[in-house]
Amino acid sequence: MEILGIDIGGSGIKGAPVDTKTGKLLAERHRIKTPKGAEPQPMAEVVGQLAHYFGWQGLIGAGFPAVVQYGEIKTAANISEQWIGQNARELFAAATGCEVTVINDADAAGLAEMKFGAGKGRRGTVLMLTLGTGIGSALFNDGVLIPNTEFGHMEIECEIAELRMSDAARQRDELSWKKWARRLTRYIGKLHLLLQPNLIILGGGVSKDYEKFLPLLKVNCEIVPAQFFNEAGIVGAALAGAKKKK
Ligand code: BGC
Repeated sequence: MEILGIDIGGSGIKGAPVDTKTGKLLAERHRIKTPKGAEPQPMAEVVGQLAHYFGWQGLIGAGFPAVVQYGEIKTAANISEQWIGQNARELFAAATGCEVTVINDADAAGLAEMKFGAGKGRRGTVLMLTLGTGIGSALFNDGVLIPNTEFGHMEIECEIAELRMSDAARQRDELSWKKWARRLTRYIGKLHLLLQPNLIILGGGVSKDYEKFLPLLKVNCEIVPAQFFNEAGIVGAALAGAKKKK
């Protein structure tokens, strides 16, 4: 099935048509900057522009950086608070003229990794973390997603985890890989203690540099880099779009 996958973030909105049977992008991805303030209407317009760019008339799947329940946005960490209570599914459908499925962006990335990437064929509990501006999480048991986990908002050492452990925090605090790995070890160690996953997948743009920090993590669990790097969000959003309306 061909679905337009769109990965919506606080800094960029990117998309590409995806073959959901193979997980391959059918065209080069297109990225548009997220409008300043990340408010609902301007962001919906960008989603509309992306669909128009690809001349899209079919189904669309969108990953969104917030808790999403039945299309409704419930939280707003790195986007405008005006999003809370808005129905993204309806806004994006109006902007594109297409049927749109919206899920959490990290859940989308997790779906892609479980189907085609680092989690393929893995049973038991798999935890995926996306390390970017914030920290997204996706939790699977025997391949089934438990949506909207938001482990990036867990409080650790009296701070919200994503404010200290994200890739944005690494850059902001100009941390060496070693120092960042120490922070990550404390955070991932806590998650490991609570969830006892069989596998942890680390994604987000920084996962392409996994050789620099992954060997430094001291957590007694198998930890692997995401295979899609930054494209998991697009592919997974398309996978969600291929399923029934959510
Ligand atoms: C949001 C999550 C999102 C993550 C990654 C967090 O700030 O609360 O919903 O998955 O950022 O974008």
